[in-house]
Amino acid sequence: ERKLILDTDGGVDDAQALLMLIAAGRTPDLITTVFGNVDLTAATRNILSVLAVAGKPEVPVQMGADRPLAQPAIDATNIHGADGLGGAPRPATIPNPVGRDGVRVLIATLQEATEKGEKVDLLMIGPLTNLALAIRQAPQCVEGVGQLTMMGGTIHGRGNITPAAEFNIFSDPEAAAVVFGADIEIIMVPWETCMTQKIEGPEVDQFFAALPDGPYQVFSHALAHHARSVIKGFGGGDHMRFVDPLAAAVVINRTIVTKSQQACVEVALSPGVTRAMTVIDPTGRLGTPNVSLVENADLDRVIALYQASIAYDTPQT
Ligand code: BDR
Ligand code: CA
Repeated sequence: ERKLILDTDGGVDDAQALLMLIAAGRTPDLITTVFGNVDLTAATRNILSVLAVAGKPEVPVQMGADRPLAQPAIDATNIHGADGLGGAPRPATIPNPVGRDGVRVLIATLQEATEKGEKVDLLMIGPLTNLALAIRQAPQCVEGVGQLTMMGGTIHGRGNITPAAEFNIFSDPEAAAVVFGADIEIIMVPWETCMTQKIEGPEVDQFFAALPDGPYQVFSHALAHHARSVIKGFGGGDHMRFVDPLAAAVVINRTIVTKSQQACVEVALSPGVTRAMTVIDPTGRLGTPNVSLVENADLDRVIALYQASIAYDTPQT
């Protein structure tokens, strides 16, 4: 199996996505962090907490970009809580090796793979700044990328942060434009598809009721509880949606995608209401289709992966 690099901005569903990868046996070989849902320091702390809860002190973590390429940073603490994890109880110890050299290590890992005739898969669930910086500094590093699966953008122009734009792209549109313009095989998990992937709140509680009450379950239940309360706060009823975890599920098993479409994707960069909108062209007028857009996924299997992730038997317990 190919090496996997996870690039994440450390929010509630980023944590759920990472737990899903670990439980499915696809623990990332490297994690790079980025500003986004919270600032870079908090995002990194959150990822270290997830790794500590899951008993994975050996996974290397590298801090990447702390700001977008060409605009001030925004965050999403209104959604993910002030700490980015909805206040989930976390262990104090963070034994993982941590570096502050995310972009350099990303480049080196991709170049090393190319030298060995290998490829590395990427899963990006935050703003695309780290990879954009890597491409700017060392354009040939893209040769080392196998598949890039990313959560971000919209397929029908229905955004979550603005009417037209999705948060990860809106957080750094210039970076997204660099990534979509690179010669990389991209699997894009757009916002509207994520909105169709949800589980009812009581079903989540039923899963947890059958599990022991150890620190791992208390942590993952707190994440689910926060995600549900955010949706309730928006008047959306009691359920939980799979956003970043859907992208993780696609990496774990590509056959979870039941419908997709090839298209060329460009990011609108002009100021105004369309800024950061992903423009989808399946016709080839904007260029050769370079992106596989996930339009639907097998929800039962996504839920099964989620269920397995909360039932995960950590190495320490
Ligand atoms: C994306 O932004 C973040 O809030 C989530 O973690 C997800 O990556 C959804 O727009
Ligand atoms: Ca995220």
